[in-house]
Amino acid sequence: MTQPGPAPAPLHPHPTDSPEDSMQAIGIHDLALATAHHVLDLGDLAESTGTDPNKYRIGLGQSLMSVPAPDEDIVTMAATAARTLLERTGTEGIRTVLFATESGVDQSKSAGLFVHKLLDLPSTVRVLEVKQACYGATAAVQAATGIIARNPGEKVLVIAADVAKYALDSSGEPTQGAGAVAMLIAADPDLLVIERGSGLSSVDVDDFWRPNDSAVALVDGALSLTAYLDALTSAWDDYRDQGGVAIEEIDRFTMHQPFTKMARKALKRLGQHTGAELGDELQEVSFTYNRDLGNTYTASMWAGLAALLDLEDDLAGRRIGLFSYGSGATGEFFTGIVQPGYRSSRRAAQVQEALEARVPIALPEYRELHARVLPSDTDVETERVTKAPYRFAGIRGRARVYEATGA
Ligand code: COA
Repeated sequence: MTQPGPAPAPLHPHPTDSPEDSMQAIGIHDLALATAHHVLDLGDLAESTGTDPNKYRIGLGQSLMSVPAPDEDIVTMAATAARTLLERTGTEGIRTVLFATESGVDQSKSAGLFVHKLLDLPSTVRVLEVKQACYGATAAVQAATGIIARNPGEKVLVIAADVAKYALDSSGEPTQGAGAVAMLIAADPDLLVIERGSGLSSVDVDDFWRPNDSAVALVDGALSLTAYLDALTSAWDDYRDQGGVAIEEIDRFTMHQPFTKMARKALKRLGQHTGAELGDELQEVSFTYNRDLGNTYTASMWAGLAALLDLEDDLAGRRIGLFSYGSGATGEFFTGIVQPGYRSSRRAAQVQEALEARVPIALPEYRELHARVLPSDTDVETERVTKAPYRFAGIRGRARVYEATGA
């Protein structure tokens, strides 16, 4: 692991800050990650189609992917991640729960309300779901900072959870995955202060989408790559126009990682765009979890951040550049300053345990699970498979039912 450069100057107010609020530090106080019951080795997937495994391992930068059991989904992973988080932080001050996902389980009701019940959160909270492909959690975090700026005593629980699912035998298949990241956003956070000066880019483009009647995403792979890179350079330019710092003042990066090679391409493009030398060592550690989780859509960039904070020892006071991309397409570039106490909050062992606890799934069983789409008009009891604290019990009276497992 390389050592970061000299520590940046202390956090300075953005030019548009007013004197009275420029001192308010808001950001991520703690975070926790959860994933699914099964794991599929991409080597097995490659072998089944006669593909060179190095296409996935080197070409895409992916080794494994999480696969949910029949009694798991975004809600069970989200509740597991949030439980781990809230066991450390408590729930005091939480008055908002924002659930970001692009693999929602209902067209109307927020998945956050199932989590709210499973975790026995107080009734005095607002709960809603946020959607814009893989970008949703960034919108939720930014909204949370606004809520806290207005009410500094409040905290916001943001959860990003997704099951990335493409058609069997499609080029997107090796870039599937599943996982959730729960974050507590608060004033004077322990982990990362989110700075002002965000850069934005939105255009209407059909690079990736999921029609209401489709269980799998549709994607124009080549277009999604260029749309991502275009959003990055546009968001960067806007970030600078908004008073963001020079590229040389950023010590580490975590970018959306639909597959980790994508973020390599992105940093290279940012280097070409800015004329700066941006070596892979500036983001390499952020790939550690995602290489083995697969794509977690809304949670992907935050899993990259979790890896940086968990696994790098000398980040206190350093600035991290974050680039969030959601097809369709919205991109946002922003920065955060790692807080002095960030090491005491690291949870590398817990993440490692979750990754290692996954049960390998054989190709035929994976394909059978992939093809399974539950009817919503018939009562269904799911089989008991997951060892997680919460499970999706099935459908009764057309409504989804979740329960604690006692784990
Ligand atoms: N050894 C090492 N690398 C290999 C290889 C081998 N035997 N065979 C191929 N590769 C490399 C290719 O050179 C390519 O790398 P490059 O892009 O750096 O040149 C990479 O593996 C992928 O190969 P490619 O032929 O482009 O893959 P593909 O057309 O089957 O699909 C995606 C790639 C990303 C388009 C596809 O996985 C997809 O659609 N994913 C979902 C959408 C997505 O994640 N988009 C990202 C933006 S949101």
